[in-house]
Amino acid sequence: MSVTDEIKARVDIVDFISRYVPLQRAGRSFKACCPFHQERTPSFVVFPESGAWHCFGACSIGGDVFSFLMQKENMDFRDALQTLAQESGVQLPEKTEDDNIQERNLLYELNAQAALFFSNQLHRGQQAQPARDYLQRRGISAQVAKQFQLGFAPNSWDALRNHLEQAGYTPHSLHRADLLKHSEERNSFYDTFRNRLTIPIYDRQGRVIGFGGRVLDDSLPKYLNTAETALFHKSRVVYGLERAYKAIRQVDSVVIVEGYMDVIAAHQFGFENVVACLGIALTEGQLRQIQRYTDNFILALDADAAGQQATLRGLNQARQALKRKAKPVLTPTGRLQVERRLGANLRITPLPEGRDPDEIIRQDPNAWQDLIHSALPLVDYYVGIVTNQYDLHSAQGKGEAVAELTPLIAELSDEIERQHYIQQLSRLVHIDELTIGQRVQAAARALRRPPEKVVSRATVGRDSRHRRRFTQQSPPSTVPLAGGPTNVEAGLVSALGQTASMSETKLENFLLAHLIYDPNLLVWLAKMTQELEIAPLRSQDFQQIEYREIFETLRRFIASDELWDIEVFQDALSPDFHLILSHLMTQTLTMPEREPAAIQDALLKLLIRLRRARLRENLYAMQFLLRDAQENHNREAILEFSANINANRRDRHHLERVLVRRNQISYGVTHVESGAVIA
Ligand code: UTP
Ligand code: MN
Repeated sequence: MSVTDEIKARVDIVDFISRYVPLQRAGRSFKACCPFHQERTPSFVVFPESGAWHCFGACSIGGDVFSFLMQKENMDFRDALQTLAQESGVQLPEKTEDDNIQERNLLYELNAQAALFFSNQLHRGQQAQPARDYLQRRGISAQVAKQFQLGFAPNSWDALRNHLEQAGYTPHSLHRADLLKHSEERNSFYDTFRNRLTIPIYDRQGRVIGFGGRVLDDSLPKYLNTAETALFHKSRVVYGLERAYKAIRQVDSVVIVEGYMDVIAAHQFGFENVVACLGIALTEGQLRQIQRYTDNFILALDADAAGQQATLRGLNQARQALKRKAKPVLTPTGRLQVERRLGANLRITPLPEGRDPDEIIRQDPNAWQDLIHSALPLVDYYVGIVTNQYDLHSAQGKGEAVAELTPLIAELSDEIERQHYIQQLSRLVHIDELTIGQRVQAAARALRRPPEKVVSRATVGRDSRHRRRFTQQSPPSTVPLAGGPTNVEAGLVSALGQTASMSETKLENFLLAHLIYDPNLLVWLAKMTQELEIAPLRSQDFQQIEYREIFETLRRFIASDELWDIEVFQDALSPDFHLILSHLMTQTLTMPEREPAAIQDALLKLLIRLRRARLRENLYAMQFLLRDAQENHNREAILEFSANINANRRDRHHLERVLVRRNQISYGVTHVESGAVIA
C-alpha cells in the first residue's frame, strides 16, 4: 500500500470535504453546491466508497481527497501530502530524500552562479586579458567560448567567495560545492579556482555540476578539477555529453577523446558526436552513460595510452561488464525493450605520437575524419599489440599470446567473427586451428557465470533507476521469455475481456503503464480519439493522484522537443512519484510482446473502458441528483440533470459503438473475448 493509499484509507473524505462545504446525503453518496464554481443547485457529489468526488455541473472535474485539497487550497502535491499525512497520523517516509533534493538544487544553483561569474570575468574582467589572449592563441573564438561558457577565475583568494556571499550564499555551502576550499590553519575558506581558465562541466540535462580549471602557462598541475561533491563524480562524468547525445544517437556512434580542449575543437569544427572521459582510465560508469545512446564506441587514444596493456585490459573488462548487464532501452521509435546487449562495439584509433585531437582537428579536419574511419576493432588492435609484445617464435611467447587473446575471441558473440580470429591467431603463432579453437572454448566456459537472479520489485527503487538485471541465459530478445503468462499478462487479457472485474485503479494503471512503455502511443491516441470523436485523454481521466501527476508530466515531456529518455523523464518528475514510476516500469518490462497494432488497440480499449466505467458511476450519481430535484420540484435542476443524463447516455452509446467496431477488426488476442467485451 502506498502512502497515499494509506492516507486515503484513514481520511474520511466526507468529513474532510464537509469542512469546506456542507454535504447532504444522497443515497450512497453525498451532495453539495460545488465549492469550485457558483451554483444554486447541488451538482457536486462525494463518493465515500471510492473516496472520490465529482462536479456534474459547470466545472465537471473530479478526483480524490488529494486533488480536492490541491485545488481548494491551491497547493502542490507535496504540500497536500504533508497536510493530509499530519491530519491522518500517517508517517511520511524519512525526509532525507527531500533534504537531499534541496541540497542538490542548492549545489546546482551555486555552480550555475559560479559559471556566470567566471564567464563575466572572462569577457569583461580587466584581469582576464591574458586569458582572452590565451584563447585566441588556441583558436577558440569568443563565440565558442560563450557556447561552452568558458570563464576566468581571477587571481584572488576570495573573488568568487565575495561575489557569492554578497548574493546571499554561505561559505559552507560553497565549500560543499567545492567552489571554496577550507584552510584548517587559518580556519577560513578560499577560492578553489584562482588564475585559471574555467571550463564548466555539465550533466546530461545541461546543469553545471563542476569545473575544470586550466593554467594559462606551463605550471602544474595543468588542470584542477572539482573534487567529489554530491553532484560531481569524476568517474561518471562524460564531458560534452549534454551537447553530443543527440548526434551520438543519430549517427549511432560516439568518439571518445581525452581532454576538454579536444571536445571543444571537435564541436567547433562540426564533429558533434565527440565526448571526453577527462583523463585516460575510461570507467564502466562513463561507458554506461554513453551506452544509452549507442553501442558503437570509437576511442581516440593517445599513442602511449593506446599501447598500454592496462588500458586495453581495462577496456575489455568494461566491455564485458557492459555485455553482462541487460537493461531496458528505448528503440529509436520509442519502444521499450529489454536487451542483453551484445557487448559494446569498441574500436580504437591510436593518434600519431605526441599529437592530440585538438591539434589534428584544427590543422586539418579531414585528417581527423580519416583517423576516425580507420579505427580498428578492439580485437584486431589487441592482436597487433600482442604481436609486437611477445616473441612469437618462442614457445613461451606463443603461449602468452594465446592466453592473452583467446578470452577476447571467446567473448565474441558472432560465430563467423570467432572463426576469423581463430584462423588469424593460428597463422600468427603457427599452431593448428583446432587447438586454438579448443582454447577458445575453454576460455568461453571460464567466462560463463551462473545466471544472476532477477532483482525483486522492492529493490527497483529510486536508486536503481530502472536498471535491472535479468537472468543471463535467456537469449537476447524482447520480454518476456519465461514460461506461461505473467500476472500482468493475465491482467491485461482480463483488461481486454472483462472490464467488469477490473477496478478503475487497475484500468488507470494499465493505461499509464502502456504510455510509459511507448510514449509514442500518446501521440497516436490523440489522433485516434480525435478521429473517433472521443474526448482526448486528460490528466483528469486519472483518479489516482500519482497517476494524474505522472501523466501530466509525461504529456508535457512529449510536447517538449526533448528526446524520450526514461531517466530524463524521471528527473522531470517529482521524487514523490519515483517509486510509482518504477512500479509502472516493472510492469512494462513484463508486458507481453505484441504487434504494435495490437498494443494500440489494447490501449484504446483501456481508455474506452475507463471512460465507460466513469460514465456508469456518474450516471448513478446523477440519477440520484435528478430524483432529489424531482422531489423538491426544482425545475431548473431537473432540466440540468436530465440533460446531463442524456449526454451521459449518448456518450456511453458512442463508446459502445466504437468498441463494437474495433472488435470487428481482429487484433491478436482480442478476438478471444469479443463476445464478452460489450457485456
Ligand atoms: P591532456 O594533458 O591531454 O590535456 O589531458 P588537454 O585536454 O589536451 O589540454 P591542453 O590541450 O593541454 O590544454 C587530458 C585530460 O586529462 C585531464 C583533463 O580532463 C584533460 O582535459 N587532466 C589532465 C587533469 O584532470 N589534470 C591534469 O593535470 C591533466
Ligand atoms: Mn591538448
